Amino acid sequence: MNKHWMNKRVTVTGGAGFLGQHLVKRLERQGAQVFVPRRRDYDLTSLDACLRCLLEHPADLLIHGAAYYGGIGINQTEPGRLYYENLVLGANLMEAARLTKVGKVVNIGTACSYPGYLEGHLKEEDLWAGPCHASVVNYGLTKKMLAVQGLAYKRQYGLDSIHLILTNLYGPGDSYNPDRSHVVAALVRKWVEADLAKAPSIEVWGTGKPVREFIYVEDCADAILLAAEKYNDVSLPLNIGTGIGTSIRELVETINSVTGYSGQLIWNTDKPDGAMMKVLDVSRMSNALGGWSPPTNLRDGLSKTIAWYRANKSQADEKW
Ligand SMILES: NC(=O)c1ccc[n+]([C@@H]2O[C@H](COP(=O)([O-])OP(=O)(O)OC[C@H]3O[C@@H](n4cnc5c(N)ncnc54)[C@H](OP(=O)(O)O)[C@@H]3O)[C@@H](O)[C@H]2O)c1
Repeated sequence: MNKHWMNKRVTVTGGAGFLGQHLVKRLERQGAQVFVPRRRDYDLTSLDACLRCLLEHPADLLIHGAAYYGGIGINQTEPGRLYYENLVLGANLMEAARLTKVGKVVNIGTACSYPGYLEGHLKEEDLWAGPCHASVVNYGLTKKMLAVQGLAYKRQYGLDSIHLILTNLYGPGDSYNPDRSHVVAALVRKWVEADLAKAPSIEVWGTGKPVREFIYVEDCADAILLAAEKYNDVSLPLNIGTGIGTSIRELVETINSVTGYSGQLIWNTDKPDGAMMKVLDVSRMSNALGGWSPPTNLRDGLSKTIAWYRANKSQADEKW
């Protein structure tokens, strides 16, 4: 096992969340001294709370994974809160990090920061090539500002940081709450519930042709810790993904097969499809992480996810 973070002080914001839990588990296994600031104790939208957190728990490494966000629903109903909370969360934490002399900051970004009109394999150099998609701009843009702050703080204060751009995650520990959930969790819930209810059919929106990318959450956590160890270029973010495009049809058929659902599948092609292809270019990731690539294929990842969901359904359905 990699012991790079052995005895190091590591603070993980968002460490009790979906991705954060997997990061914390790995860091603890490596022997790191991990601290997770919970929102009820440290509301990191306040600079005072950020400073208190990092003064009480000085950090060799700060992984910033906290965010307030969700599915299309809250992007429509709470654009102001999404904008304000994510912007000040990131800005204040970076300010507190440089004031308390954190060793290195790893900012967790999102593929929603890429220009909305771009399709195909998205390269890091294209991050600033155009505006975010209107449906996610209030969240995507605030995350992107962290890349600007990282560069500015390196130049003026010498603070070391990197910016990672994550593709869509799925796996154990995700939220299955419809106000929150992303495509994989929403489909898994639909299939498991239809299977339990012996429903005769399931309707899916669109043609199934759009191609997206999905990374198993545990692989993503491994990649983040490798990047924390090996990647140091604040001038260019690093994509974290599989680089493999999966059509929504293939995703649906794999979930169908793993759940063993035996009813009929109906594609409602009157509903819109969205962008045809959004996949990250992971060639820089592979070079930066010493040739690493995510080991979990979609079917195996979905099998573990569905087994976890069946065992934790009520808790997962309630989770924010
Ligand atoms: N999930 C994905 O598919 C995906 C894709 C791309 C990027 N990302 C990024 O990955 C990161 C983790 O995502 P996730 O899905 O694991 O999120 P999550 O489950 O919603 O967890 C977010 C965490 O942020 C913490 N938080 C929110 N506001 C806070 C505040 N004001 N002060 C302190 N803590 C606060 C919450 O802490 P409490 O539990 O204490 O309330 C929560 O545990 C996010 O930055 C997200 O943008 C996720």
